[in-house]
Amino acid sequence: MSKLSIRGVEKTFPARRGTAATRALEPTSLEVADNDFITILGPSGCGKSTLLRVVAGLETPSGGEVLLDGQGVAGPGPDRGMVFQSYTLFPWLSVRDNVCFGLRERGMARAEQLAIADRFLAQVGLKGFENHFPAQLSGGMQQRTALARALANDPKILLLDEPFGALDHQTRELMQELLLGIWEADRKTVLFVTHDIDEAIFMASRVVVMSARPGRIKCDIAIDLPHPRSYKIKTTPAFAAYKERLTEEIRVETIKTLSMEA
Ligand SMILES: Nc1ncnc2c1ncn2[C@@H]1O[C@H](COP(=O)(O)OP(=O)(O)OP(=O)(O)O)[C@@H](O)[C@H]1O
Ligand SMILES: [Mg+2]
Repeated sequence: MSKLSIRGVEKTFPARRGTAATRALEPTSLEVADNDFITILGPSGCGKSTLLRVVAGLETPSGGEVLLDGQGVAGPGPDRGMVFQSYTLFPWLSVRDNVCFGLRERGMARAEQLAIADRFLAQVGLKGFENHFPAQLSGGMQQRTALARALANDPKILLLDEPFGALDHQTRELMQELLLGIWEADRKTVLFVTHDIDEAIFMASRVVVMSARPGRIKCDIAIDLPHPRSYKIKTTPAFAAYKERLTEEIRVETIKTLSMEA
């Protein structure tokens, strides 16, 4: 059985005063196995965030269904850990309390919360910053805190929407290695949206490409590169071959998107 089943999920945002209805997603189906690391690529506005938000339970689909471990998803829940592109930490809470937030909501004893928070903060390299506030952190550190917060809840699946999009190139590459290392060690199930083809290939067990809006899955490519992967894999011929194919697939869709909007 799949960990996550996305079955015929479609989404049309209704017309509002002055704006027409938007068909964001064509019926889309995707089966995600336990331990899969799926990256989703696609042109801007093709419905990637919409798809992720439906899986997170933050958006109701116009049709279709999402099953997690065979159970229908109907609203947000701690079994899905979400990290967004923009920083979404609670500014009035310390780094440690941000990570504790979901654990406290569940009524966990304080000592246990702290032990879990500190373990995950150490895992993302934030030991020594537990008492800092988000405003005292760099962008990369804030995203590492958000990742620690998502991991601390021990979700069944991690949903990441361009979590490294606002970071500089070097920090971003280090974050990719960090997340991949966590995945290689703990074998999480991950759905990760990105615009960056290198990032998509480097971390994925499968790369899914979406078409121009209304989005649907255009191709689904297994990435057969060995683990553990180091950044050096990005210069290998096998990596370059995946990159060439994906660049072509995305380019066609981006051209369609731009001509639609012209
Ligand atoms: N709440 C909303 N109300 C109305 N339309 C929306 C809403 N959210 C998204 N849309 C529309 O749905 C389409 C898909 O948006 P979505 O954010 O899923 O795209 P995306 O693939 O994540 O794009 P990007 O790569 O730029 O983040 C867009 O045309 C957008 O305008
Ligand atoms: Mg988006």
